Amino acid sequence: MRIFSGIKPTGPLHVGSYAGAISQWLAFQKDPASEGFFCVVDLHALTNNPSPEQLRRDIMETAAGYLAFGLHDARFPIFIQSHVPAHSELTWVLSTLAGVGELERMTQFKDKAGYAEILKARDRVTQRLEQTIEELDLLQAGSMGAHHRLVRDQHKEVIDGYRSLKEELDNLHALLTARDSRVGAGLLNYPVFMAADILLYDTDVVPVGEDQLQHVELARTLARRFNSRYGETFKLPRAKLVKGASRIMSLQDPKKKMSKSLGSAHYVGIFEPADIVRKKIMSAVTDSGSDIKYDPATKPALSNLITLMGVVTGKSASNIEHEYAHVGYAAFKEKLAEAFLAFFESVRRKKAELDKDPHHVLFELKAGAEKAREITNKKLRDAQYKIGLV
Ligand code: TYM
Repeated sequence: MRIFSGIKPTGPLHVGSYAGAISQWLAFQKDPASEGFFCVVDLHALTNNPSPEQLRRDIMETAAGYLAFGLHDARFPIFIQSHVPAHSELTWVLSTLAGVGELERMTQFKDKAGYAEILKARDRVTQRLEQTIEELDLLQAGSMGAHHRLVRDQHKEVIDGYRSLKEELDNLHALLTARDSRVGAGLLNYPVFMAADILLYDTDVVPVGEDQLQHVELARTLARRFNSRYGETFKLPRAKLVKGASRIMSLQDPKKKMSKSLGSAHYVGIFEPADIVRKKIMSAVTDSGSDIKYDPATKPALSNLITLMGVVTGKSASNIEHEYAHVGYAAFKEKLAEAFLAFFESVRRKKAELDKDPHHVLFELKAGAEKAREITNKKLRDAQYKIGLV
């Protein structure tokens, strides 16, 4: 079974990426029937427009993180995406098969481009405008033949409301147009690139967090479209999620997914200094009440902390509830911080060693890229031949 997955080097590896992706990668690596590649997807990181120094640092940090977890062996090489040119080349081919509308509908694109909020506001204003028009119609019907001042005043009030809503709508349109020129085209094409990453390897399974499901689905769609137009070429991949931990939430805002882009207090990095790890976990927001109870609907913040406790102890939510029932939030967070540091202790130690030996990290990455090039060159040539390139 062929596995492919990757992480974008846009900052420190955090516990969300561990829970959603790396924990699965480690399990596949232990399974003798699986083989595959783990990629540092540096070209995807460019969509954030990082500084060259920052990008170089993040690429090496992510790769060292992979090695610290022991994520490399003969069956599972690691490599850097930009070291394997076929990824970019197939992206171009696939982009000619993807629809702009299809890409614009991707949730992550809408969120990152800042469209989601604006579009939601636009829907709200449009709905209110429609209600206002109905009110106007009713008023008009009621005022037929009558010239009461009351009706005239009401009429004026509704018309004024209409004008201010219209103005709001115009402002939202202006905002959308301004975004259009600022949002890089790379952000839109991002999932096509991800499809190329996956399809080049005849991938069966893509172990990822929930936020990537839609992207893997697009990879399937593009593979199907290519195959039906040019003949059987790409395998249809499927995503694999971790049950119960495929969407770790932010420590500061449990309605949002834990991510590097929200800011440092929102995530806890696997390799951050111990005092920072403790501080971040102790400052995590909690819900009202004091019971340690797993209930995402009424206690989203605490449920997320219980999920994290499960990730680093292997215990079920109900066991955790039972064990910490009456300790209170502060003591629970203290226990979580200690369990986190204990669970990642050996990986953190290994990472500190690797930081002193960047040549070793580069050596592994180069060896991995060679293996990846062997596979991908063949696949790319096959696809190019099928579409008629000479
Ligand atoms: P990225 O770098 O944002 O995240 C890396 C992996 O970690 C998972 N993840 C999470 N899982 C649970 N809870 C969270 N809070 C959380 N945050 C991140 C992500 O789902 C992902 O699996 N587009 C991808 C990288 C990519 C890729 C690929 C992945 C590029 N090409 C090909 C698989 C196959 C991304 O930006 O992931």
